Amino acid sequence: MTVSDARRRVLLLKGLTWVICLIPLVWSVWLFTTGRGSVDPVEEWLHRSGKTSVIILIASLAVTPLRRLAGWNDLQKLRRLLGLFAFFYAVVHLGVYLYFDQGLAWSFIVEDVVERPFIFSGTLSFLLMVPLALTSTRGAIRRLGKKWVTLHRLVYIAMAAALLHYTWGQKADIRDPLIAAAIVVALFAARVWWWWQKRARAAAA
Ligand code: HEM
Repeated sequence: MTVSDARRRVLLLKGLTWVICLIPLVWSVWLFTTGRGSVDPVEEWLHRSGKTSVIILIASLAVTPLRRLAGWNDLQKLRRLLGLFAFFYAVVHLGVYLYFDQGLAWSFIVEDVVERPFIFSGTLSFLLMVPLALTSTRGAIRRLGKKWVTLHRLVYIAMAAALLHYTWGQKADIRDPLIAAAIVVALFAARVWWWWQKRARAAAA
């Protein structure tokens, strides 16, 4: 295969990722502008943006295990894009909460963060995602070197906080957040297993 074939395949994968990741946004805008959405658009936007952020964050965590299992190295090139889309939907989510749900009433917002563990865990997850998004440029990756890898392990804590937030936010049925948590645990276990095997090989060498 030629270099341009490989480049074309990565471009195609990235294009597909853009299209898939933008569907929830386009869908929400279409429902809203055509009046086909829910009677409570704020709740609808909050729920869709929150769920989309969690799903894309999980997809970004699945990239490395999938690449290793399938041996498809091109997948690795999607990790950053997926992480940034997860952050984008988290920003939309936070924006809807601050502006439309709370009307920028800062004293109520602070009270909400401090008094409701559900909001606190969402805020923690968002705050942890900020340095990850800010250091996702090629320059930052180069500058930070090994520290970048350590910093980006924070994604698992951001994910755990998001899953807590998701679970606490449910009125009764917690099946969806539990399924999401089971997938994340499996992905994390796969990473730990590979790391353990690498260590054992290094010790034996
Ligand atoms: C920045 C701080 C955050 C605030 C203030 C916040 C606030 C909220 C609110 C008010 C809801 C709606 C709860 C309801 O209707 O009962 C919600 C739901 C949700 N949020 Fe957040 N959130 C934050 C961060 C995040 C982040 C970073 C993620 C994902 C990575 C996330 C994922 C979700 C999910 C999955 C739901 C539930 C959606 C559903 O049940 O359909 N949130 N959040």
